[in-house]
Amino acid sequence: MSDTGAVSPVIRIEKLTKHFPGVLANDSISLFIDPGEIHCLLGENGAGKTTFAECLNGTYRPDSGRVFYKGERVEFSSPRDAISRGIGMVHQHFELVPPMTVIENIIVGTESKGIRLNLDSASKKINRLCETYGIELDLGAVVSRLPVGKQQWVEILKTLYVGVEFLILDEPTAVLTPQEIENFFRVLRKMVTQGLSILLITHKLNEVMDVSHRVTVLRKGKLIATVNTDAMTRQELARKMVGRDVVFLLEKEAVEPGSPVLEFINVVTETINRREALQGLSLMIKQGEILGLAGVAGNGQGQIFDVITGVGDVQSGEVLLNGEDVTDSTPWMRISKGLAIIPEDRIHDGLLMSFPVRENFILGNHKRRIFRKGPFLDFKEIDAFSRQKIDEFSIAVNSPMQKVKTLSGGNLQKVILAREFSQNPKLLIANQPTRGLDVGAIEYVHHRLLDLRKSGTGILLISEELDEIFQLADTIAVIFRGQIRGLFDTDNADIEKIGLLMAGVGA
Ligand SMILES: Nc1ncnc2c1ncn2[C@@H]1O[C@H](COP(=O)(O)OP(=O)(O)OP(=O)(O)O)[C@@H](O)[C@H]1O
Ligand SMILES: [Mg+2]
Repeated sequence: MSDTGAVSPVIRIEKLTKHFPGVLANDSISLFIDPGEIHCLLGENGAGKTTFAECLNGTYRPDSGRVFYKGERVEFSSPRDAISRGIGMVHQHFELVPPMTVIENIIVGTESKGIRLNLDSASKKINRLCETYGIELDLGAVVSRLPVGKQQWVEILKTLYVGVEFLILDEPTAVLTPQEIENFFRVLRKMVTQGLSILLITHKLNEVMDVSHRVTVLRKGKLIATVNTDAMTRQELARKMVGRDVVFLLEKEAVEPGSPVLEFINVVTETINRREALQGLSLMIKQGEILGLAGVAGNGQGQIFDVITGVGDVQSGEVLLNGEDVTDSTPWMRISKGLAIIPEDRIHDGLLMSFPVRENFILGNHKRRIFRKGPFLDFKEIDAFSRQKIDEFSIAVNSPMQKVKTLSGGNLQKVILAREFSQNPKLLIANQPTRGLDVGAIEYVHHRLLDLRKSGTGILLISEELDEIFQLADTIAVIFRGQIRGLFDTDNADIEKIGLLMAGVGA
């Protein structure tokens, strides 16, 4: 792929600039993408990737710069406008209508006024698309019942259905399991051989190496380089991205585990989805121990999370926190006893989106003595705390007063991590703690998790990244259909055996 004139680019961007109050999110960015190309956009949290994409799809109007699509100058007034011209985007946070079916979601808003929806011809067309690209999806299924990985296909089909030829995907693999990712890339490769072009935003360097033809690196709103992927290594990309070397290996000190901080004794729960219900599950985490829960999403991880945090009902069995029975305690009682929580769905469960960063830092923490002056909150103290955390976690934000909803995806996650890590918890439950973070931030979070472990915190690490579990956990528990199917000392754990147990083979 080159711009020597053999092919003309599908899209060409010249000096695109976009400000937000106090931030230069995109600083004169120029690049082009060829037909049939998968082009990755890489950069730290807050580097300006989503903003750039949203300038191309009509969400934002750039302050300056020009965009040419198939050789023609374009200026879109809305995402709808961009889609009608052939440019579509799937966002970090989906925009589906959960109670509607797959097919309804795909065609809603696409037929022009007055024309009755023809479900028959629509479903024929969608089935043809699925066949062409190898997408497996039940068109009649209700979207809210689908796993997120499948929901993403619905978003993608929405764009293909209206004939999009340039597709922008913002961290699509963040919601996929490793098995799903392989299949996902297979489909993307097929799409580009059929003439589509893709701009793929991701933090995962392996994915960039695996799937892209070229990659563009942004740092703090500036374009650092556009390079052929073949000519790069993972290390070189990481260095371009964060401006320093990133160490992919962690040094883990030996820690002598103490007394149990969490015990599940024969816990049974009930859910609509039987695969997820806990069926007499027992486990134990000690002080200074990281227990990694390995499993395919939807095998009870969510139930364990709910039972520990106190939002899920226990049918029978017991839950002990520091030896004390908390089976019937409220979430607040558990938090006051030293439970810290990093939820999987940060937008809904972890943050107040329309509130400033500052208020979000003290959520659940507001009763702590240092934040109070008599009956009131001590905002001077809270401000100082906020500034310290912003600095410590390098959160890209102008001031503690900035509303959380204006933060980038990864920086949202950092606000939760900073808050939960700072409570000196006795037990931390971390559900996908590094999802959506850039490599530098992941490195930092991993170190902080090991620091907590060293100070005696017991940690339950729920992660779909097996690499992460192997790097951090002392003990690995494999969950399948609501039961622990195997327990391993990480040093002696066999990754293949774990993979088989995750799939329900062997015991
Ligand atoms: N609506 C907005 N108002 C104010 N600032 C914003 C707004 N949207 C984004 N920003 C700021 O612009 C910068 C770039 O954000 P952007 O979302 O493009 O980053 P990103 O590269 O996608 O990061 P991530 O990997 O964390 O998703 C950040 O500093 C962010 O806080
Ligand atoms: Mg983003």
